[in-house]
Amino acid sequence: MRLQTSFSSRSNLLPLLLLLLQQTGTSAAIELDIDSYSSIKAAAAQVAGDLANEFWDPTSFSGVPNAQYAWWQHGAILGAYVDYWAMTGDTTYNANITIGWLNGVAPSLDLLPKEHAFDIGNDDQGFWSIMSMDAVERVFPETDEQKRRNAGFLEITQTVHNTQATRWDMSTCGGGLRWQIVTVKNGYKYKNTISNGLYFQQSARLAKYTGNESYAEAAEMSYKWMRDVNLIQDDFWINDGADIPDCKRITPKRWSYNYGTILAGCAAMYNYTEGDRREYWKTQLDSVLNATYATFIDQETGALKEIQCQDSDTCDMDQRSFKAYLARWMGYTAQVAPYTYDSIMPHLRKNAALAAATCTGDPRGTACGQKWNIGPQWDGKHGLGEQINAMEVIQNIAPSVAPVGYIFNNRNGGTSKSNPGGMGKKTSGGKLDKAKKYEPYILPTYEIKPADRFGAAIVTILAVVWLGGTVFYVASDFWETPSKLPEGEEAAGGTTGERLE
Ligand SMILES: *[C@@H]1O[C@H](CO)[C@@H](O)[C@H](O)[C@H]1NC(C)=O
Ligand SMILES: *[C@@H]1O[C@H](CO)[C@@H](O)[C@H](O)[C@H]1NC(C)=O
Ligand SMILES: *[C@@H]1O[C@H](CO)[C@@H](O)[C@H](O)[C@H]1NC(C)=O
Ligand SMILES: *[C@@H]1O[C@H](CO)[C@@H](O)[C@H](O)[C@H]1NC(C)=O
Repeated sequence: MRLQTSFSSRSNLLPLLLLLLQQTGTSAAIELDIDSYSSIKAAAAQVAGDLANEFWDPTSFSGVPNAQYAWWQHGAILGAYVDYWAMTGDTTYNANITIGWLNGVAPSLDLLPKEHAFDIGNDDQGFWSIMSMDAVERVFPETDEQKRRNAGFLEITQTVHNTQATRWDMSTCGGGLRWQIVTVKNGYKYKNTISNGLYFQQSARLAKYTGNESYAEAAEMSYKWMRDVNLIQDDFWINDGADIPDCKRITPKRWSYNYGTILAGCAAMYNYTEGDRREYWKTQLDSVLNATYATFIDQETGALKEIQCQDSDTCDMDQRSFKAYLARWMGYTAQVAPYTYDSIMPHLRKNAALAAATCTGDPRGTACGQKWNIGPQWDGKHGLGEQINAMEVIQNIAPSVAPVGYIFNNRNGGTSKSNPGGMGKKTSGGKLDKAKKYEPYILPTYEIKPADRFGAAIVTILAVVWLGGTVFYVASDFWETPSKLPEGEEAAGGTTGERLE
């Protein structure tokens, strides 16, 4: 929070000094002229720089050095920087995007890195695969290192798609992905919209990009299932999730990123399909868009608002970043369903201006706030969420003033290598069952194995996760490049981790 200065004690110069500093800070506020490309680029650069300086370390395994943030948010950040490059042409962060990406995917090549395997749900994985799909569709440059490791953006998105497809669960609720992957977690009994919505969007974008009908079928199946169980209601109220076994008990909370992920998926399907099928998707898209406006746009100010928690200041560290993804996916929708552009873009432009006006916060006078509906002032909130929210909404208005933001496919400029059968490295040789691999083995005693040697490469890693006094043996297999291993990190997500080389 901001320091309140007081002049009641004249003998003390400190308050005056602080006030001066604060005023200097305030004058650093971000200026944004939404009609000027150079101004949009400068504002985006400032917000992106503040995010990078404080909340991003692509060289670390988690990517988000502050423990209150989660691994999935690293995937979200990378997506934001891919968009940043596409919208501004600024290559400042490109090398770090690749470094962060390789830390996330390698060596298992399925976006289930063993250090986080216990914590990763289908939604966390989905955020990374949507980031890689951004890179595919924007034709973000792939490095030789990436290709050498079979860590191209398209092949990884396909791999995540394939492994998630194997988790599609017909045993409860007539289908759907469960939230969590690990069976002992509570979220394994919950089927939520973000997991399924990201799967839907990922499938739809793969269909659009590759032209492969199989992906469209997966998208249609997952969408139909979400409609059937009322995760997406007939009135387009989109719920948070539902409990197994029958999905009758629903958690009716509404989050902006759920609307956003369904929106973008519908837009990609609208784009991919033709004829009656396209009409169907147009109706779905229009309905979700209308519901999005009605739900998340503040009537008085036009500001996007996280209605579930923003006014009450109860948004957690995840929720504080949700508006970023709604803004990103509104921008995406305006590109691939161009008939929505005239409706969407004014909302984004309005919100870019509102968001920038809140960027007067500590510590440097440019931190952005959470509440865009309170006028040109900072609300005291400062974090990864506030920065990425402002970054996405500001950069996503660039297409309104410059010929940028185009979404490519593999027939008109996309170059990322396809590997439709990808299942990740852990499954190669038929030795390991990809889904079962991550069920924790409960060991009677704490056990540390000595390092294995295997061919030319290789060090065995043991990730031992303590949970309620029980030790789970999460995974041990082979790293190609031990030099890339981060030192002394802890497993994310509230568990303590221990790892030996
Ligand atoms: C890349 O990340 C490293 C590690 O966080 C950082 O020191 C460096 O400044 C970053 N480079 C850019 C251009 O952001
Ligand atoms: C299309 O996608 C399916 C499902 O992932 C895959 O099995 C098939 O090989 C793909 N076809 C082509 C031509 O890439
Ligand atoms: C969405 O809202 C617009 C404007 O109010 C309206 O014309 C249109 O019929 C709505 N579409 C759907 C599918 O609800
Ligand atoms: C599909 O998306 C492309 C951009 O990727 C766009 O140029 C094209 O107009 C869209 N098609 C339709 C039918 O809207």
